[in-house]
Formats: sequence, structure tokens, C-alpha cells
Amino acid sequence: MSEATLPPALEALLARMTLAEKLGQLSMLSADFVATGPQLSPDYLEALRAGRVGSLFNLWGRERVLELQRIAVEETRLGIPLIFGFDVLHGHRTIFPIPLAEAGCFDAALWERTARRAALEATADGLSLTFAPMLDVARDPRWGRMAESPGEDPWLAAAFGAAKVRGFQGADPAAPDGLAATAKHLGAYGAVTGGREYASVEVSERSLHEVHLPAFAAAVGAGALAVMPALTDLGGLPMTAHAGLLRDLLRGRWGFDGLIVSDHGALAELVVHGVAADLAEAAALALGAGVDQDMMGRAYERGLPAALERGLVAEAQLDAAVRRVLAFKRRLGLFDDPYRGLAAAAPRQAAGLDRALAREAAGRAMVLLKNEGGLLPLDGGARRIAVVGPLAAAGAELLGPWSAAGEGALAVSYLEGLRAGLPNCEVRHAAGCAVEGGDASGFAEVRRLAREADLVVLCLGESAALSGEAASRADPGLPGLQRALAEAVLASGVPALLVLSSGRPLIEPALLERVPAAIAAWFPGHEGGSALADLVSGRVAPSGRLAVSWPADRGQIPLFFGRRRTGRAADAPGAVERYVTGYRDRPDAPLFAFGHGLGYTRFACRDLTAAPARVGPEATLVVELELANEGERAGEETLLLFLRDPVASSARPLLELRGWQRVALAPGERRRVRFELPPQAFLLPGPDLQPRREPGRVEILVGPRAERAALLSTWVELL
Ligand code: BGC
Repeated sequence: MSEATLPPALEALLARMTLAEKLGQLSMLSADFVATGPQLSPDYLEALRAGRVGSLFNLWGRERVLELQRIAVEETRLGIPLIFGFDVLHGHRTIFPIPLAEAGCFDAALWERTARRAALEATADGLSLTFAPMLDVARDPRWGRMAESPGEDPWLAAAFGAAKVRGFQGADPAAPDGLAATAKHLGAYGAVTGGREYASVEVSERSLHEVHLPAFAAAVGAGALAVMPALTDLGGLPMTAHAGLLRDLLRGRWGFDGLIVSDHGALAELVVHGVAADLAEAAALALGAGVDQDMMGRAYERGLPAALERGLVAEAQLDAAVRRVLAFKRRLGLFDDPYRGLAAAAPRQAAGLDRALAREAAGRAMVLLKNEGGLLPLDGGARRIAVVGPLAAAGAELLGPWSAAGEGALAVSYLEGLRAGLPNCEVRHAAGCAVEGGDASGFAEVRRLAREADLVVLCLGESAALSGEAASRADPGLPGLQRALAEAVLASGVPALLVLSSGRPLIEPALLERVPAAIAAWFPGHEGGSALADLVSGRVAPSGRLAVSWPADRGQIPLFFGRRRTGRAADAPGAVERYVTGYRDRPDAPLFAFGHGLGYTRFACRDLTAAPARVGPEATLVVELELANEGERAGEETLLLFLRDPVASSARPLLELRGWQRVALAPGERRRVRFELPPQAFLLPGPDLQPRREPGRVEILVGPRAERAALLSTWVELL
């Protein structure tokens, strides 16, 4: 296990610490600006003055942070500076689209830019640590935290995680604008049984290594300074006590020497899980697994003294954890300047929101799901527009879950955005009903507006609180009376654009079938309304793609494109109709595949080549194809590249994502698009789950989405 090493001055500091002071460095307490879990720590100030706390979270703001840091540095016996943490997931003051939406931009530079901006704002507010990126592969829309995740695919999640780490931490985490990143929640939290929040996880070792861990390896590889284990258990062993994954894999094999910070109250919850009889046992399990900081639970403070007495842990283990906390503080430059530049007479300040970046990101993240008869863009056709539904005039709700220090009142609603962006239209509004609840008294007004309009923009979906943590939904469709409201509008016969705001694909096959045009806007952030107007007016061509398969039915969950071929595949030689995999009563294909997303033009792919045909172990494979914009408008296509390995030591997924290219083309323009696949792209976990290359023929498939019929294919041979 990798040990943090300290310079002599910090070793001397460690040598001076009492047991209580050591335990203090291992404690992270919540201040009271917001609650992100079941408890707060009302006595955090008292604990701070007594030197019993090493980090604080859930507070921000230059003045407050300076004051608390001054107390830590000047009023405690050892003067050790504090870490200030917060959940900065998709923006700090400026709120960008939720991660699920941003992942669908397939744009590492954008992921990095929004994280950098968030870091500038967060560090100007005194923060030094974010509990992000969240990298749990999510394949079950019942799980509310899908909103925070980069979606269903491990390769996409890995690229997303690495870009976010680079963006948050910047070139030098010790710089005043460096924000330490936490890769969370290791591992497989996304696979909670039945999509039920905090439920048990059962995944195979292979899925763990193939699906759930790669994004964490990538984040660690990109230099993430912290990792957070999940609240959940894996096959009966809570992640907070999982020595196999935290100590042996993360610290041992991956060489991670940063901070392992527990999730909220997770140490004390080891008792509730039923793997520890009391706090002493819980603390011993977590410390033994390698957890350095105890968020909230006070389990180290209360449990470790008894654990030491009972011989459940050794003093050296405790010291190793304290060493890692001190090393972490040193990496953030806290021992050189505890105020990280903020005490200067003219401190760096983030000036206002970055509305331009928020608008760009939101516009690129929205997915045009459907556009029958070219209803969009409006091109001046519709004159009178009714913008209806419970989310039409909503501001704060558009920020979604984990909106950090983002102010809801600063959000541009869809109604405001469309009014400003369509100056030649008469835009009228009625909500019709609330997001939840059963009051239909507003329906009549919506019906009237619909009848008098040329177009209805139907703004439906979830409130922010229906998504994110502790927001699993057994029926992840439209809540309340919204389905009925949509039916009332469609009955008017006026063309409708459905705008869905949500943290998950909402399972509404009948509505999505009937409505001529639909946009998945997700939770788009502060500039959601402006971005929607950009797309509707045609000023910006839609380019967002789905980072998750959109189910056609609840019964298909969990649904993802990377499933394995089975022995009873429908296209297998000699397959007999009845005895093939699938459902009798439903299709097994999604309503919209991973990667789906329309624009305002038509693209065509042809002439796929891959060279060399026989690929040596060190060689890079070059894949090329021609992409043409055959429509009348400019647009951007995202091409996805997949592998399929038909014969390997284990049955492989039907498609494995290995890369993408975004290509913008003018009408009539064509271009040769090039992918380069390095040798690592061909590694797969062998029988011992170690990455290895397996020689043989491999299919290379390229196209706009994870749907076989939409992909061009060619073959190469791996030597
Ligand atoms: C969540 C974490 C979060 C923490 C601190 C927990 O409940 O699971 O994702 O970082 O709270 O707010």
C-alpha cells in the first residue's frame, strides 16, 4: 500500500499531535449552509476551536472561509489549516447542465472548460475540495443519481472523469484556483438493486472491472487527489470497509496516494449495515480498508480510541491516515498559504456568472429526440406560441440536483428564453398543473391557449428534488397530472414541441410516439431558456446526444447497449423464433439508442476503412470514413466507434465504445473523418480480470448511435 511521505517539518508536527488532535485531522464536519445528508454538525465551531476537526464542508464564501481558517490557524494549538469541501458537480455559482446531459456532448474540451470555470468560482469562494466528478456508470433510470453520472458507458465515463479532474484541479492543484477533485463513489453504486437508493449491489467481478471501475482508474490516472467510497455494499461488504478495493486495488495496484474520504456518515453506518457491532469495530474496519477522513459520522473520533485499546487497530495505521491528510493539505498549498490567495487586499473574484459558457453548454447538451415534418426550427412559421406546463416558467428547477451555490432566481426560464429569442412571435403562457399533485383546475386555460396557438411548447418533467440523491422512482415517467395535461394539449390538434426536463430518460413511450417534436433538455442550468430558444429558432443546430439508452418500457430496465451476446441470439445460425432472447410482449430495443440525437440536416456515412488489416501489438489502428452533410443546413455530427470481438475468452458485449469524433459540416460539405485506436483500445479483462490483448478477428463499427443497423462495419485481425 502506498504511504504518503512528509517533509521533516510535517513529520515533526505529526510527532507533536495528541490522539485527539490526530482524530481531529481525520474528521470532516458539515457546516450549516446546506444539508446534504441526514445530519448536520451543530457543534462544528466548538470542535474547530478545540482542534477536533480537520475539514469542513457545506459552506462557502470568502469572508466565512477566511474567518474559520483564521480560527484554525491562529486559535488552535497546532494551527493546522482546514480543507473546505463542497459538492460542486456541475458548476458552483454558474450552473451548467447536469453531468448526464453534459456527457452527451461527447466533448472533453467542454467538460474541462465547465469544470475549470466551476473551480475558479469555487476557489474564489474559499473552497479547496469538490466531491466530484461522480463516475458511477448508471443503467437504471429508476435511480435518481443517474442525473449526476456520465451515463451508461464505461469508456465515456472514463474520458469524462479524466477531463473533469483536469478541469477542477487545473495545472497545479496548489495554485489558488486549484480545486482538488474526488472521484466518487467507488464502486458500482450505480448498480443498486432495483434502482433503489442506497440498496445493496450485486455485480460480477467481471462487470465490476469492465464496467464500473474503469472511470475511477482514469480519474486516478489523471491525478485525482481524492476518492470517495460508496455508501452501498458490494456483495455484502460495505464499500467503506472494502479493503480489497480500497487498499489492495486503489492504493496497491493503482498506486493512489491521495485522500480517501468517506461518504456522509458512512463509517457509523457500518453498524447499521450489520458488519460492525459498535463504533470501535466500524472505525477499525474503515481504517483498515484505508479510509482517511470520516465525513460526519464522528466514528473515528468516538470509535478509534476504543479500537486502539482493544487492539483492533495499531497506532501506525492511524498515523498513516493522518499523514495522508497532512500530505493532501500540503498538495493544496495550505501550509504555504492557508488562505489560498484570498487574504490579499484585492482577492481574485469570479465576476458574475459565465452565462456565455452556460448557454453554449446547455445548447449542446439538449437532445432533439424527434422532429417530424421538420417542425423545428421555427424559421418564422409559427406566430403565436403557447408555452405551457409546470416547468414553462420555472427558474430554480432548471438547475437540477446539486446546484451548489447557484442561485435559482438567476436562471433563465424556458418562457423568458423563448420570449427573448423569438421577438417576432406572440408568446403566451399557462402552467396547467404543478409538477406533482392532482389539481387539474388549470387545464382549461391551457386548452384555450393551445387552441389559439400555431405551436404549443409543452414544458414537462421533474422538479430538481425528484432527481439526484435519495430520489429513486419506481415509475420514472411524468409525475402528477402531466401526462393528462399533454393529452389535453395534443387533443387540440395544434402541433406541439415537448420539452422534457429531467435527470433521467423519462419513460413515456405513448406520448413520445404521438408528439411530433421532442427535446430532452435535462436540467440545463442557468441558461436553459436561452439555449432552448437558440435551438428552436435555429440559431444553433442541435448536436446533443444521449449518454444513456432511452427505454421504451419500464420492464426493459436495466437497459444498455453493451450487453453480451447470448447463446440464444435471434441472429444465431439455426435460431428458432420462439427460443431467442427477448420479451414476448415488448421489443427489447430502446425507444432511442445511446448516441441518438437529431440535428436540422442529414448526414450520410460511407466508405469505412481500417488499416493495417493485420494489427500488431504495438500498432495504432487508423479507421477512416467519409461523412457528408446532405441537407440544406449546417450541422454537427457525432460519430461513435465501436468494437465487437466475436470470439474471446469471455463472451464480449455486442458493441464496445472505443472513441468518437464530432464533425461540423456546411451544407453539401463532405470530409474524411479519421480515428486512431491505440493498442490500449483492444485490451479486455482476461480470465483473471487483468487487462490483456486477445488475438483474432475484430469488427470495427462506426456510425451515429449504438444501433447495429445504423453502423458501417469492417474487420481487422489483431496479431
Ligand atoms: C452523497 C455524496 C456527497 C456527500 C456530501 C452524500 O450523501 O452521497 O455524493 O458528496 O453527501 O454532501
